[in-house]
Amino acid sequence: MATIELDIKNIAPGMCSSYKWRGKPLFVKHRTEGEISAEANTPFSALKDPETPEQRTIKPEWLIVIGICTHLGCVPVPNSGDWAGGFYCPCHGSHYDNVGRARKGPAPLNLEVPPYKFLSETIVLVG
Ligand code: FES
Repeated sequence: MATIELDIKNIAPGMCSSYKWRGKPLFVKHRTEGEISAEANTPFSALKDPETPEQRTIKPEWLIVIGICTHLGCVPVPNSGDWAGGFYCPCHGSHYDNVGRARKGPAPLNLEVPPYKFLSETIVLVG
């Protein structure tokens, strides 16, 4: 199916749910206030693939990314790694922050943000 509709209202702050979209893992992470503020002012000089959180989210509390490591394609583990609320890929040790930006290890790029839009407060259409 080219698009999927997700009801994300039961994903508690701090939690990350996994789905499947076009045969790929899809992560929906509910960012906490603390996680949002932790990445609000990260300088571009600290990033391998500089993007602001605003460029990667429609609503700051919701991160939606494809769960495929940009190094060699393993599936990263949510809420894991050196950046609180971020993602860790155990294959070769890549760390992503809580907006899915590559921060440490061999991953060259941020986790991909798929096309999506909110149909209501908590219903998201991905694809
Ligand atoms: Fe993720 Fe290599 S595939 S670090």
